[in-house]
Amino acid sequence: MERTSILLGGCELKSTIMNASGPRSAERGEIYELTAVHRGAIVFKSCNMAGLDTPENLKNAGVEHFAALASEFAARGKPVIASIVGSTESEFVEVAKRLDRAGAAILELNLADDYVRSSIAPFASFERLKSLVGRVRGEVGCVLAVKLPPKSGFSPRSLADALKSLRVAIAVCQNDLAKDAQVDAGAGTVKGPPRALSHTHAMFRESEGLLDIVAVGGINSGGDAYVAHLTGAKAVQVGSALIKEGAGALGRIDRELNAMLAEHGKDSVNQIIGAMKFI
Ligand SMILES: Cc1cc2nc3c(=O)[nH]c(=O)nc-3n(C[C@H](O)[C@H](O)[C@H](O)COP(=O)(O)O)c2cc1C
Repeated sequence: MERTSILLGGCELKSTIMNASGPRSAERGEIYELTAVHRGAIVFKSCNMAGLDTPENLKNAGVEHFAALASEFAARGKPVIASIVGSTESEFVEVAKRLDRAGAAILELNLADDYVRSSIAPFASFERLKSLVGRVRGEVGCVLAVKLPPKSGFSPRSLADALKSLRVAIAVCQNDLAKDAQVDAGAGTVKGPPRALSHTHAMFRESEGLLDIVAVGGINSGGDAYVAHLTGAKAVQVGSALIKEGAGALGRIDRELNAMLAEHGKDSVNQIIGAMKFI
């Protein structure tokens, strides 16, 4: 299924489909299962330095647990996206350094979670954002991604400019396309005047090709992935469908996307990324 292969932040991935950080990506067994059944990248649950018991959604065993897994997968050539949370800037930097050394291909800074927003407040000002991301950037060599909340308080343009200036390669954005958008996926069209259709689409439009956009939220089928790609996503992450269906959801969505691309005469997913037209 080369049709769904992609270069994300310069990393070669065999599929644009990947799991979202969290669901089925915390325990060793869960991560092995994902890597066994899916040929694309694997995203780890967000981790901090020592691990967390609360909040429940960020329960994790700490960076050493994930660094050991990252080293194993790096040795096998499996691309790993390691996700980071922290309650201080220094914690982010130390966790990032450890995961970078362990061989993670991409580091995803989780700035979308309330835990981070209430402790570090990365979007309180551009200085705060630049200080946090700039410090991590200065300490690690690998590709950087930032997971963004749908509403940061900054305009998509200024946020895209800030991330570009910080040499962030990837923005993970919400796939919050309105349910009533009248999309014809095959034709690559949507009814109505030109506008930002979602957080993903807004960031794609403002990034001028200098940021790769990953869409997360509500991706349950190849059709959902296809539409997210039309709105500018270079890759998509799957959360709830994994919880409901198990690790096989990733392969199913990849196969469905591949079949839709073939049906619409596309040799590569690259032909549809950001190609949505307004009619
Ligand atoms: C049980 C659970 C745990 C999650 N843990 C994390 C996490 O550790 N880090 C993170 O960035 N997002 C986390 N998320 C959010 C998901 O990565 C994703 O953004 C969200 O589920 C939306 O995607 P979906 O509509 O496909 O579920 C979690 C979500 C769920 C349901």
